[in-house]
Amino acid sequence: MMMMFSIAWILVVLVVAWNNLDAAPTLYFYDAAATWTGGWQHSSLQNKTIWITGASSGIGASMVCQALQAGAAHVILSSRKRDKLLNVASKCQSLLGSKYHPEHTKMSIVPYDAANNSTTTMEATIVDRVWKACGDDPLDMVILNAGVYQNQPAMLTTKQERDYVTRVNYQAPVDLTQALLEKWKTHDNPKGHIVVVASIMAHGPYGLSSTYAASKAALRTYFWSLATEESQWLTVNMACPAATLTGFWNPVASTLHAGGSAMTADRVAHLILTGISGPYMLFYETWITKMPGILWLGLAHYTPGLFLAFSHFLAYIRVPIWYHERIDAMDVSLLMTRFVQIVMGQYPPVVVET
Ligand SMILES: NC(=O)c1ccc[n+]([C@@H]2O[C@H](COP(=O)([O-])OP(=O)(O)OC[C@H]3O[C@@H](n4cnc5c(N)ncnc54)[C@H](OP(=O)(O)O)[C@@H]3O)[C@@H](O)[C@H]2O)c1
Repeated sequence: MMMMFSIAWILVVLVVAWNNLDAAPTLYFYDAAATWTGGWQHSSLQNKTIWITGASSGIGASMVCQALQAGAAHVILSSRKRDKLLNVASKCQSLLGSKYHPEHTKMSIVPYDAANNSTTTMEATIVDRVWKACGDDPLDMVILNAGVYQNQPAMLTTKQERDYVTRVNYQAPVDLTQALLEKWKTHDNPKGHIVVVASIMAHGPYGLSSTYAASKAALRTYFWSLATEESQWLTVNMACPAATLTGFWNPVASTLHAGGSAMTADRVAHLILTGISGPYMLFYETWITKMPGILWLGLAHYTPGLFLAFSHFLAYIRVPIWYHERIDAMDVSLLMTRFVQIVMGQYPPVVVET
């Protein structure tokens, strides 16, 4: 009887978790507890000066507004498009409403094209501009969030495309950081905090976005190496979100949204900020994804062989779908239908034209 009760209880927990979890359990329950007890999870951002790259849309734009709502004193917004950054700033100002006091809350715009590496001093110049915008207050934190996607088979991805994605997602944040560390180090008691927005794809091979996944894996590895070298004065947090409904996906024909597994930018931004503000030992790296994604990460970490087998199986279905229908299929029912068709010989084989 006791055994039956325990099994039923475990099943209920699993079903509830499957339907509701959108982050690793520690982060999800910590955030839920903080919300139930007054919504204090972002309080450590109060009075902070924070620089956010990729702030003109999606997760970055959401983090700008939420950081200000949490009481950040000054947020510096960067991306390529000044107009979009100004729009985000005015949207955040209206969201704050009567809580917005220009004398206590400041927003600065520092445009920056991460793909532009025409001069070797480019990043140092941007960091100089950010330093100037900070005035007498130190820069407490940078959130390296700017990024671009690549979604097609590796065989069809040109060198130019690979270089561009690698430059924006990996090389540029690393170069910016180098310039930033030099500035921080000039202080008597240096203190720096870097938040890196990587991806769950940094954790394992993922078909149809090889360069993107590789750029995020490189980013993650670089910053964890740096964190060990400079641990005396530098804090590094890593955020690994999964599919999020942002402009990121616009160029991609994807059934991802139909699958219902994607999260909103507001929710992802909220959980990233919770991770940054919460206990470091728990949240030095946060996994932000709905249920199949959490299992995916679990497989990648604890059973790499099974993970590889599973990713091969997924690619067996997703790659032909990409070639024939030009969509990045993530929707379970579509994957199942096509799998049956492939096995029955009713789906044409892939002919690669390079
Ligand atoms: N959406 C997802 O499913 C997902 C999943 C996992 C991780 N992520 C990561 O989350 C981060 C934010 O992405 P998002 O989903 O919020 O996408 P998004 O809405 O497209 O935002 C990307 C941001 O990066 C900026 N950016 C792009 N190219 C740039 C360049 N050359 N120089 C400077 N800034 C540039 C864009 O601004 P401008 O166009 O104004 O330059 C924009 O502000 C990215 O690092 C992405 O890899 C996203």
